Amino acid sequence: MNLEYLEKERFFAQTQRGLEAIALTELEELGAVQCEAAYCGVYFKAAPKILYKINYCARTVNHVLAPLVSFSCPTEEVLYKKARQFPWSDLFSLDKTFAIKANVSSSKINHSYFATFKLKDAVVDQFRDQFGKRPNVDPVKPDVLLNLNIRDNRAVISLDTSGESLHRRGYRVDTVIAPMQETLAAAIILLSGWKGEQPLIDPMCGAGTLLAEALMIYCNIPSAFKRKTNRFGFVHLPDYDAKVWRKIKGEADAAVRPYAEGLISGSDMDAGAARAARRNLNQIQGGKDITILKKDFRDIEEAKNHMIVTNPPYGIRVGEKQKLFSMYKQMGDFFKQKCTGSKAFVLCGDKELSKQIGLKISRRIPLFNGPLETRLVKIDIY
Ligand SMILES: C[S@@+](CC[C@H](N)C(=O)[O-])C[C@H]1O[C@@H](n2cnc3c(N)ncnc32)[C@H](O)[C@@H]1O
Repeated sequence: MNLEYLEKERFFAQTQRGLEAIALTELEELGAVQCEAAYCGVYFKAAPKILYKINYCARTVNHVLAPLVSFSCPTEEVLYKKARQFPWSDLFSLDKTFAIKANVSSSKINHSYFATFKLKDAVVDQFRDQFGKRPNVDPVKPDVLLNLNIRDNRAVISLDTSGESLHRRGYRVDTVIAPMQETLAAAIILLSGWKGEQPLIDPMCGAGTLLAEALMIYCNIPSAFKRKTNRFGFVHLPDYDAKVWRKIKGEADAAVRPYAEGLISGSDMDAGAARAARRNLNQIQGGKDITILKKDFRDIEEAKNHMIVTNPPYGIRVGEKQKLFSMYKQMGDFFKQKCTGSKAFVLCGDKELSKQIGLKISRRIPLFNGPLETRLVKIDIY
């Protein structure tokens, strides 16, 4: 088969907005080459074993796409015609379910819903021509996930080599009102540079996402450790090599190391949040040994020489922000009075709030928490 990714060995890793640079570093560390950051993602080249490794281990990436075919696509008719010519049955069989995710921008085809529909028709009609039967669509848990990207009237159809988004690590069994996405939490830990040299705490831990990602990073637990091994999209690539995948998985699993007791802890003033964090951490190897308390950070006795990572409330609703000013000020007092020798990385909603902390900010990193533009601020506490 003449597939684009086989010719070029080039893939696209989709990220949350703002995580492109950290994802690029991570992909290079995992063995990707010729990495190039783009909007919400990174292009890279990789041999199959590196592609499998990225899907199994990358912490800051959501999906990895393998382009199958691309073409100029001025109309829906062209999309249908070109897609119908593609040998879909070489990629997956009738008994597999499939789904399509489409993104459309700056093009004559300006509605992703219709683009999805056209591509689905083309796939189904081609199967029908060949076998007199069609595969079913399963929008929730498809076996095969296709990605259609139309930009500037050029279409790229890719196989999603991840399948389900990689942020679904499998440990989140409980949640709070504003949980952070796992990829963002992992990015914050990686950006902090923490490698376990000092204890790490999150004094406003919510459902414990930062703690869970810190634990997985410290213990080298692959990001997809809890995922079913056959649920990755790459098993549908024509050059998929099960032996190579087993070897890559075996090597990554063998690198897992035990948790060092006392290294990570968290607390939250809300009993429900503390319970959620407890339940989530219990899902991860070593997580049961992490202390989680129901506690207001103002009641913490001290956290000297620690790494503090936290995501306080932002107060996006009118009137809430004023109330938060004094809380951010008290957080600054807590740092000053009880956390000497520590470093803090705080994900703040905006400049006004971070100013209330009242301590010198040595680094500001713009990040998006979902659609919200935020800043990760670094504070060295002396
Ligand atoms: C935005 S949420 C954190 C979400 C978390 N990063 C996650 O992924 O689930 C903010 C948390 O701060 C907690 N919080 C607010 N004020 C607090 C205080 N004074 N002491 C401790 N926790 C507090 C809230 O209960 C809430 O769970």
